[in-house]
Amino acid sequence: MAENTKAYTALVEHLAKVKYAFVCPSPETQGRVIEKRNSASSSAEAKNAQDFFGWNLPCTREAVLNIVPGHVFESLLHAGVITLNNNKYRSTIRVSDFYLPQVPYGDPDSSSLFYVHSSFPAVADAVFFGPDTYLFISWLQTAVRHLFHAPNSIIDVCCGSGAGAIHMARTYPNAQVLGLDLNSRALSLGGVNAHLAGVKVDFHESNLYAAIPQALKSSGIDLIVSNPPYIAATTGGIALPIYADGGAESGLGISMRIVEEAIDIVSATGIVMLYTGVAIPAADPAYDALLEKLHGIKGIELLEYIILHPDMWSEEIGKGAYADVCRIQVVGAVLRRRK
Ligand SMILES: C[S@@+](CC[C@H](N)C(=O)[O-])C[C@H]1O[C@@H](n2cnc3c(N)ncnc32)[C@H](O)[C@@H]1O
Repeated sequence: MAENTKAYTALVEHLAKVKYAFVCPSPETQGRVIEKRNSASSSAEAKNAQDFFGWNLPCTREAVLNIVPGHVFESLLHAGVITLNNNKYRSTIRVSDFYLPQVPYGDPDSSSLFYVHSSFPAVADAVFFGPDTYLFISWLQTAVRHLFHAPNSIIDVCCGSGAGAIHMARTYPNAQVLGLDLNSRALSLGGVNAHLAGVKVDFHESNLYAAIPQALKSSGIDLIVSNPPYIAATTGGIALPIYADGGAESGLGISMRIVEEAIDIVSATGIVMLYTGVAIPAADPAYDALLEKLHGIKGIELLEYIILHPDMWSEEIGKGAYADVCRIQVVGAVLRRRK
């Protein structure tokens, strides 16, 4: 086991033992919580595991040693997961719960599914995990409604921390599962998260489907899932992190490529499950640009199109690329090759 994986495993085992709970909020919410904590010197430093590995507050060596045992602290420090700056220690990652221990989920492992992802605030190549991930995974549970048989091959394209791929590998343990992402940091944390979840996922650095082995492409993929970036960049504005920038077509560029390029690699009975966001124009609130584009693609059949969140990333509305947008609607689209 690689050094980093050993350190993360020891950390997560400890966090499970102390019943750690941190559900990752939006960057906007995390920023507000931290601002509030920083407004009083008595609350600005980490006092417990949630503060340190969730809210990413700094603290003294003595305080970290109250949060994790000495050997876990040393291995995290050695692996660069904890850093020292101005006599204060800080975590370079966050750990989020997927299943809340208190919530009966019908899953015997439900108390211990933690994901490691980037710290707050996000940098250009931050590894995403957030509100979208939770919604995406819940929606993926409905895949079975559209599958004729258990999939032999599954691809999570734009996999980030690996949540979609890992969830699918847990659901279909006999399938070959690949996680694809452009960001090498995402791939290495994906490997850690798959190890922590006890599943096998092969992660590849890939521009969308480029790195899929030819043999797999030729035999056809049974299930392609994706929660890609879908935020529209503002011309001349601050560059978005890789995880957010959805490219051309007002942020729908990557989503459209995922569907168009899937037609050539999805198996005859296979499906594509795309989770993405659509900017709804204030002047025409009934217009959904993605739905119109999908109807325009020959060779695909739209099996399902549902609103999963009517108003995601509301902090973007009314400015930059979203100046004339009234909301960002998150949708789930299930597609199949037209016969
Ligand atoms: C919004 S994040 C979602 C991550 C993950 N699917 C989830 O649900 O948490 C989008 C991911 O797409 C990746 N990405 C962006 N452009 C890509 C491309 N052309 N090919 C592959 N991955 C890409 C980013 O690096 C990022 O990890």
